[in-house]
This record gives sequence, C-alpha cells and structure tokens, in this order.
Amino acid sequence: MDDRIVDDAIAYVREIFAHDYSGHDFFHTLRVYKMAVTIAEREGADLLTVQLAALLHDVDDVKLSPETHESKGKAVSFLQRHDVPQETMEKICQIAGEISFAGTDTVVPQSLEGKCVQDADRLDAIGAIGIARAFAYGGSHDRAMYDPDVPFKEGMNGEDYRKSLSTTVNHFYEKLFHLRAMMNTDTAKAIAKARDAYMRAYIAEFFAEWEGVR
Ligand code: ADP
Ligand code: NI
Repeated sequence: MDDRIVDDAIAYVREIFAHDYSGHDFFHTLRVYKMAVTIAEREGADLLTVQLAALLHDVDDVKLSPETHESKGKAVSFLQRHDVPQETMEKICQIAGEISFAGTDTVVPQSLEGKCVQDADRLDAIGAIGIARAFAYGGSHDRAMYDPDVPFKEGMNGEDYRKSLSTTVNHFYEKLFHLRAMMNTDTAKAIAKARDAYMRAYIAEFFAEWEGVR
C-alpha cells in the first residue's frame, strides 16, 4: 500500500465533490476527516482506517451515487487501486454503510473506528456549520425556511426521513437536536455539548425575531 494514499484520497474526493452544493461538498468531507482524526487520536483508534473511512464515507452516498450505494463501488475501486488489504477495505466499506443518520433506523457502528467517523460526520451537522448546512440544504431542495403551520414529526424511520418535506427549522427538532445524545465517544460528547448549546441559542433567537419580540 503506498504511503501517499491519504493525499490521493483527498485529491479523489476533491474531484468527486467539486460540483456539489447540497451540504455534501468536498469541504464537508475534509471537515469530517479533520474531526475524525482529532477524535481517533484521543480515543486510540486505528488512524489510517479512520482517515480513509472519513475521506470515502460519502462517495457512494445513496443520494449522490445510487448506482454504487449497495456495492460501495467507488470506495472499493479506489482502495483496490491502492492495494489496500482486503480486511481493511471491508472495514472501511462497513463503516461507510453504518454511519449515515436514518431516523429510527440509525445504527451504532461495530468498530471504534466507525464510531469515530460517525461522530465526526454528526458533529458537522450541528453548531455553526450545522446551521449553515441545514439552510443551504433547505434552499437547494426548495424548502421553506420556516412555516408555523407545518408541525414537526418525531420518531421517523429512514424512509420517512428521506421523504420528509418539512421546513428547515423543523429539521432542527427532527434531527439536529437529537444528535448530541447520539454521540459514541467521550471526545465527541464534549464537543457536541458546546455545539448543541450554540444551536439552541440560535433557534431561540430565530423565534424571538420571528415573533417581533426583539
Ligand atoms: P448524512 O451526512 O448523514 O448523509 P444528510 O444527507 O441527511 O446526512 O444531510 C446532509 C446535511 O443536510 C446535514 O447537515 C443535514 O442536517 C442537512 N439536511 C438533511 N435533511 C435536511 C432537511 N430536511 N432540512 C434541512 N437540512 C437538512
Ligand atoms: Ni457526511
């Protein structure tokens, strides 16, 4: 396996995500990568597995690449091109399949490495970046920012969640405010606590301004 593999993976995802502005752009992957490395170092996880799994976690995402979602075809061909051992490759593909948020169908990854990458991916959905991503996603999917007549739904499964036409503010109640309690590692729990508080303060301010209170 060549030692430039991490740099090559960064170049590969830069190319794949060059034209995505839906919240799954290259910089999302790069932030997940950096955060996953921070978590992995503190939690004592295998660094190379975490680096590659973080970089490749979205390349076969069902929304971006439905034809390779099942097989993890893009991740597999990248890893094969770089002579990654079969066992490491399987672990990385397993992680890619485990980490996505799917409402009540969400799973806890089996490996410590998967837990680190899932935490990093979820941390990118909350806090200041999470707020920006939510409104960017809402805009790109023609969703209303907020509508008091659209109630939010809790307890959705994976399919309901993907089909939901809710507003962006509802998304905070349907997903984002739940993520803090779903972190796997102590490192991520501490970071999530601060990001969650920031996001809740933001939504409180949003409603105050909406009502003309201040
Ligand atoms: P994952 O990273 O688990 O694949 P998604 O693809 O569901 O997550 O979401 C990508 C980004 O878009 C996240 O920041 C998420 O909060 C945001 N997002 C997803 N669904 C909605 C929605 N209905 N309204 C607003 N933001 C959303
Ligand atoms: Ni992601």
